[in-house]
Amino acid sequence: MIPIVTIDGPSGTGKGTVAGLLARRLGWHSLDSGALYRVLGLAAQRRGLAPDAAQALAALASTMQVGFRGQDVLLDGEEVSAAIRTEAVGDAASRVAVHGVVRERLLARQREAARPPGLIADGRDMGSVVFPDAGLKVFLTASAEERAERRYKQLKQKGFDVSLPKLVREIRARDERDRNRSTAPLKSPPGALCVDTTSMSIPEVVDRVWEAAKRAFPAAVV
Ligand code: DC
Repeated sequence: MIPIVTIDGPSGTGKGTVAGLLARRLGWHSLDSGALYRVLGLAAQRRGLAPDAAQALAALASTMQVGFRGQDVLLDGEEVSAAIRTEAVGDAASRVAVHGVVRERLLARQREAARPPGLIADGRDMGSVVFPDAGLKVFLTASAEERAERRYKQLKQKGFDVSLPKLVREIRARDERDRNRSTAPLKSPPGALCVDTTSMSIPEVVDRVWEAAKRAFPAAVV
């Protein structure tokens, strides 16, 4: 049995950062499932595919070559790490992700990430659909305002010109879509450790999950 920690939650809760730090601390693999949906959103945009073209998107999800090299994400051999982090691509990802056929085609790629000595997987449906037997499930939340503020700082740092009120609106719209889709909607899986990160620092969140991982996997986490 490979130890798996799933970290789900809406965008801007720090799940990606927490998952990455925890994976490094444990020496485990990490899966950024959102990156897969973002790469698909970008690939679809580039081909001019409409977000409601479910079958064409599903075909693209099967054929596109996605690679992870350290922190870098590759699409058909091209480095797209920065290109997939824009708000427009995040929105496209959320739109292509509503289709059950698309999600199904990405399942195997995600499950392949479960390799010894362990996996930290972050996304929206890691604990509910992709790894339902995970030994530890975490669900992170934070207020929309706080998440928009965090995203604002991140994007500003990267040199993007962004407006905070627009980010709040976009985050709310994306939450709405991710929560209300019929396939694998964003929701806290049963038995998950729920952590409201609104007034917590990243190291505090990492410590909280680390303590829970020690209890869940006493032999693997020391
Ligand atoms: O975590 P993120 O912001 O990089 O994800 C981008 C979008 O991808 C998100 O709005 C919805 C979709 N997504 C998903 O449907 N399921 C996942 N496991 C991860 C992301």
